[in-house]
Amino acid sequence: MAKKVLIAAPSDIVNLATFLKEKSVGSQYAYSGKEVQLEISKGNFSALTVHENIAKHPLPMILNYIQSNCPELPTVVLSKDVDNKDICSLGVETYKNIRYINSASLSDPPEVIYGLLDLESALFSNAKATSDIVSDEEDISKDDVDFSKIAIKDFISGKVVQFDVFVMLSSGKYVKILHTGDSFTSDRIAKYAKKTDSLYILKSDREKYIEFSNYMLDKFADKQVHPSLKISLSKNSIEKFTESLFDEGINPKSIQKGKKICGSIHKLISADKSLYKSFNKLQNMDPNAYSISYLTAFFSSMIAFNCELKSASSIETMAMAAMLLDIGMTEIPDEISGKKAAEMTPEEHKVYETHPALGSQLVEKTNIISNTIPQIIMQHHEASDGSGFPRGLKDIRLQMLSKIVYMANFFAFFIVDRNLGPFDGLKKIISDPDLRDKFNQPILKNFIKIFIDPEKLASLETSHSQSNNVKSA
Ligand SMILES: [Fe+2]
Repeated sequence: MAKKVLIAAPSDIVNLATFLKEKSVGSQYAYSGKEVQLEISKGNFSALTVHENIAKHPLPMILNYIQSNCPELPTVVLSKDVDNKDICSLGVETYKNIRYINSASLSDPPEVIYGLLDLESALFSNAKATSDIVSDEEDISKDDVDFSKIAIKDFISGKVVQFDVFVMLSSGKYVKILHTGDSFTSDRIAKYAKKTDSLYILKSDREKYIEFSNYMLDKFADKQVHPSLKISLSKNSIEKFTESLFDEGINPKSIQKGKKICGSIHKLISADKSLYKSFNKLQNMDPNAYSISYLTAFFSSMIAFNCELKSASSIETMAMAAMLLDIGMTEIPDEISGKKAAEMTPEEHKVYETHPALGSQLVEKTNIISNTIPQIIMQHHEASDGSGFPRGLKDIRLQMLSKIVYMANFFAFFIVDRNLGPFDGLKKIISDPDLRDKFNQPILKNFIKIFIDPEKLASLETSHSQSNNVKSA
């Protein structure tokens, strides 16, 4: 039987019906308790949602009917107050297969997506009910160094996860609260949020967490979700990515400096209304936009430190430009901006090549007073070998800061687009002579220096000299 949900509510819940339709799940409304009983008795439904304000027959009566006649039917109560004492006093909360979802979360963007995902998990997964939380917890004997922290406010509920999730007790002990293959409902997260600010995953699961955040980001790409939620998801992913740089052998001090600069630049952008509007618009158009902007600013800052650029204000100016490089894309027609550069026709590519100039003009209209930022944005696709656009300028005619940002942006795009780890990305670039020639050579050297692990550097140098031999042969 195809899946079909009976939605018992005083009026239509459009978000819910649309959400179910997108998942090829049918739905039917029942506007009174009587209708609910009648429809359920026909046995045509795979799940039921009941709004607490359903007309005729109070909610507890409907739930009692379900428990007596079809106790296996997954049922979700949509209630403004999930701790509703009237319901709990009837002992309904101990009934199996009944879950509570905050009904406000189905109507208030950006919370709407949390509510719908919770419903999905409650109705169609084998996730454990709220009452099972305590028995689910499991003590783990691992050290602090094995765990990676996630802010609980940033944790996304609903989706089945491919990694274990832990909380840390005041004794310092870690307890597993979510197993791989299970899902987390928002009420369950809320329960832990009362006690702690953070959840933990194993460092060995960091890649899976990045994949999870990116998956959610893709899932939200076409949805009307507030940009702040998308940015928060990207931040999670980026946070774990930058953490993984430690394992790649990158100097922890450089990482901290880069992160600090990116944090303050993001605050500066948020403070300028028109700039933030364009920044959010770009994020809405492209789920990878924030990751690429952040990583470009992050790597630019780290290269600048290695180049021993002394001026803090120059580094901040450069990082600001790096974060805003692609805002000109918001002025490009959707049918072109939605394509990858390699998929564009020559005519479309010509239009795409105008985005540096458009971005530069956008920034000039804001309160930003630095002239350097529009100039860097204008030159962010200009390569040192003259193969870039829009003007095909060669190294000597490019600004130093633009050359740093070009290197960082190329690298950020390269690893995000190809889903590569930073070290693998670097190795691919260095072993390809055509790619290497695109960059200013001293800047490339300083970029490589970020990766300080001597063993890894040695293997890079070997592949570098081998490819040089091939080139000169
Ligand atoms: Fe660009």
